[in-house]
Amino acid sequence: MAIAMRTVSINPAFLREIKDDHHELRQLIHHSSAMLDHSGPVEIDYQRLGELLTKLRDQLAMHFSLEEAYGYFEDAIMVAPHLCRRAESLRSQHFDLFAEMCRVVETSEQLLYHEMPARLLQRLAGQYHLFLSRFHEHEAAECDLILEAFNDDIGTGD
Ligand SMILES: [Fe+2]
Repeated sequence: MAIAMRTVSINPAFLREIKDDHHELRQLIHHSSAMLDHSGPVEIDYQRLGELLTKLRDQLAMHFSLEEAYGYFEDAIMVAPHLCRRAESLRSQHFDLFAEMCRVVETSEQLLYHEMPARLLQRLAGQYHLFLSRFHEHEAAECDLILEAFNDDIGTGD
């Protein structure tokens, strides 16, 4: 059923394209994860780790900005309410995810002058992995929404 209302929806083609094109974000996640997963406190380069996580935060900001500018939209249109509710909820997750990533970067900056960096590194790894699992969940939910929106467009949805 479709009803007319002013609400949040997605442009599935643009949202898909933004995700497919964001190679740099994927690379930064790959390198950050590799550094945090395979480095002990002795061999880790805290300066490099901090720079990497800062770049990741900046790319995340760019990723969310692009999604919100081109992948999501708000208008008075004919929409399926079940998709709108999820679109609104997913778009609102961007703010919390970005705030989480900012906390990861703050912790990484403290590593440079902390008295017990090994302990702080553990905390940083925990914060990072929590962020990453939430980010992956968010991305997967957006991909599901894209598929459903495509299906609705071609008339195979509920
Ligand atoms: Fe998103």
